[in-house]
Amino acid sequence: MTLRPAREDDIETLAELNKQLLQDEGHPAPISVPELLARHRDWLATGEWSQDILDVEGHLVGYIVHAPNPYPLDPEIPERFIRQFCIARQYRRNGLGRDAFELFMETRVAPGGRVTLDVLETNPTGQAFWEAVGCRPFFRRMEAFRPE
Ligand SMILES: CC(C)(COP(=O)(O)OP(=O)(O)OC[C@H]1O[C@@H](n2cnc3c(N)ncnc32)[C@H](O)[C@@H]1OP(=O)(O)O)[C@@H](O)C(=O)NCCC(=O)NCCS
Repeated sequence: MTLRPAREDDIETLAELNKQLLQDEGHPAPISVPELLARHRDWLATGEWSQDILDVEGHLVGYIVHAPNPYPLDPEIPERFIRQFCIARQYRRNGLGRDAFELFMETRVAPGGRVTLDVLETNPTGQAFWEAVGCRPFFRRMEAFRPE
């Protein structure tokens, strides 16, 4: 497996995989593939978020979107936030997610650095995956709505 920055010709695949990710994690906000395309293209242009492609023998098997966390828990410890992490449906349960996270840690996180991410309560698979690769919960994000 290799990890490489996404290019313009990856954007369509990124948008399709992002749609899979949103469906599979049970994301509450519906967003269309054209909107996702625009977002990935924007990130490519601005560099606001790094978009890395996971490649296995020429097959694009998944992607990771991440950036340094500007508000680290501990200013002494460099922290990188994973915003999106997806293995394409047809490649799952083969250990690729595990390999991808290991490669990410080796190549994108400074020694001693911390990785943080959010995982939805509607995504038990994601929760099981992150715990399996060594992440632990330390934070519970809560929400409430003011009535209309
Ligand atoms: C979560 C995801 C990245 C896992 O990728 P993957 O390549 O299938 O994961 P791996 O095969 O490397 O699995 C590693 C371990 O995670 C756990 N795991 C993975 N998928 C699981 C599932 N469906 N149910 C329970 N545990 C699971 C297992 O412990 C597994 O180890 P094992 O196969 O030895 O039992 C993938 O399912 C995915 O892209 N899902 C949609 C997007 C998503 O939820 N991303 C995380 C958002 S926070």
